[in-house]
Amino acid sequence: MAMAVGGMGAGDLAWWLGLVLGAAPLLCLAVWHSADACMSMSTLVYSLHWNYIGQVTFANICKMFISMEPSPLTCQIDQWFGGLVAGLRAFPLDFPGTAFHGARKCRRKLNAVFRQELEARKKVDKECDDLMSGLMHMEDEQGRKLSDEEVVDNIVSLVVAGYESTASAIMWATYHLAKSPAALAKLREENVALSESKAGSPLMITHDDLPKMKYTAKVVEETIRMANIAPMLHRVANKDVEYGGYMIPAGWSVLVWVRSLHTDPSFYQDPLTFKPDRWDEPAKPGTYQVFGGGYRICAGNMLARLQLTIMLHHLSIGYEWELLNPNAEIGYLPHPRPMDGATMAFRKLKTSA
Ligand code: HEM
Repeated sequence: MAMAVGGMGAGDLAWWLGLVLGAAPLLCLAVWHSADACMSMSTLVYSLHWNYIGQVTFANICKMFISMEPSPLTCQIDQWFGGLVAGLRAFPLDFPGTAFHGARKCRRKLNAVFRQELEARKKVDKECDDLMSGLMHMEDEQGRKLSDEEVVDNIVSLVVAGYESTASAIMWATYHLAKSPAALAKLREENVALSESKAGSPLMITHDDLPKMKYTAKVVEETIRMANIAPMLHRVANKDVEYGGYMIPAGWSVLVWVRSLHTDPSFYQDPLTFKPDRWDEPAKPGTYQVFGGGYRICAGNMLARLQLTIMLHHLSIGYEWELLNPNAEIGYLPHPRPMDGATMAFRKLKTSA
């Protein structure tokens, strides 16, 4: 249903969300910059663990979603989200000790804390310039508002769907680029040229710049293909289906293992190698399901691409970096990640502003 926030339409809300979720990773760059400004050296090596980046972005999200300043409670909320994500793709065994049970417990705690905040706001009719207020006041054409449960559900879902996934994609982009100096050089060349062409105008890239960022777009697709952030999709057969000689009875849950598509050499030559130029040709129909497909395709797929593009622009023109443990073991659940947290050393480029 089409919604309006105050006088805003759904498109405005999407823009606002883009700003909020897009701003979070940029804040990290600002933190690095300001940390650097405190040092008297012109270049400095940072050894950063992505968990730390997660903490910074999460503090920002709490502020923008529910106007909460960093506190022991926001740290607790961060941990509950961690517990929820850890059980997101776990086998549904609901008894103490399982990841699934832990995730359900965390979800209940998150619901309770957001519900409490919502009730407190309603009691004093408090107005805040944040996502919760936006959702509380949204109306469709008939003037219907979201229920309290829907407001809370949207907040939790947006953090899980939009924040963890994109943070992971950004981590994988820096990981693969650190291992592919030729690709990083081409990325930097394109973005430095773009940045220089904008001398005197705002440093932020705009919608008009996107068509010029052809190599960056290829890096984005290749990162998302290789990252397989959502390696599987969940579906339920709504009628008996015969597939590949097997019968899937109606009502059965089906796990679609899309990762196997993205790592199949008959669809992607040398599939485990990071090669942005493979995107000079589009993927064969049906072989690229990183954002799912059909009615349930990821609602934020273009936003995720945009966030990654913006982040790659600022990282490539402003920093160089290296992986401190390039051979760190990779874990695959709840989603793929280097087990050392992708520890990297970042150095601010001397030429950058
Ligand atoms: C690289 C980043 C991302 C990846 C790889 C990703 C991937 C996915 C996948 C695979 C699905 C399930 C689709 C299906 O079942 O067919 C999904 C659903 C969804 N995603 Fe994303 N996503 C990303 C970023 C985002 C962002 C930034 C947002 C919004 C802020 C978002 C919002 C959603 C929502 C709301 C759904 C549920 C759609 C529905 O069920 O109708 N995602 N995503």
